[in-house]
Amino acid sequence: MAYSEKLLDYFQNPRCVGEIPDAHAIAEVSNPVCGDVMKLWVKVDDGRIQDAKFKAQGCSAAIATSSYATEMLIGMRVAEARRITRDQIAEALGGLPASKIHCSVLASDAIKEVLKGF
Ligand code: FES
Repeated sequence: MAYSEKLLDYFQNPRCVGEIPDAHAIAEVSNPVCGDVMKLWVKVDDGRIQDAKFKAQGCSAAIATSSYATEMLIGMRVAEARRITRDQIAEALGGLPASKIHCSVLASDAIKEVLKGF
C-alpha cells in the first residue's frame, strides 16, 4: 500500500508547524518503536482549543499525521479532542501501510498528553 496524495501533501506542506510562545500546555512524546518525536503546543480557552502548533522529528507518515492531527485540534472542544484515535487520523489521510500504523500513535499520544490538565 502506498501513501495517499493527501498524506504526501501534509508531509510536503505541513500545516500548523511551529511553537506557541504563550501556550497553555506543551507535550513531548516519542514513539517507542522508532524513537521519533513530536512536540505539541496548545492554547485552550473555555474548554475549546484556540490554537495548536507542532514540531516533529520523524518519518513522512509521522510528519503528515502530526500535521493533520494538529490542524484538526484547532476549534475543537477539549472533550472531543480527547477522543481522537490513531485510526481516525490514519483513515483521514487515506490509511497507512501496515508497517506504518505505529506512526500515527505519535499524534494521538501527544493530544492525550497535552490535554491532560484541562
Ligand atoms: Fe517513526 Fe514513523 S517510523 S513514526
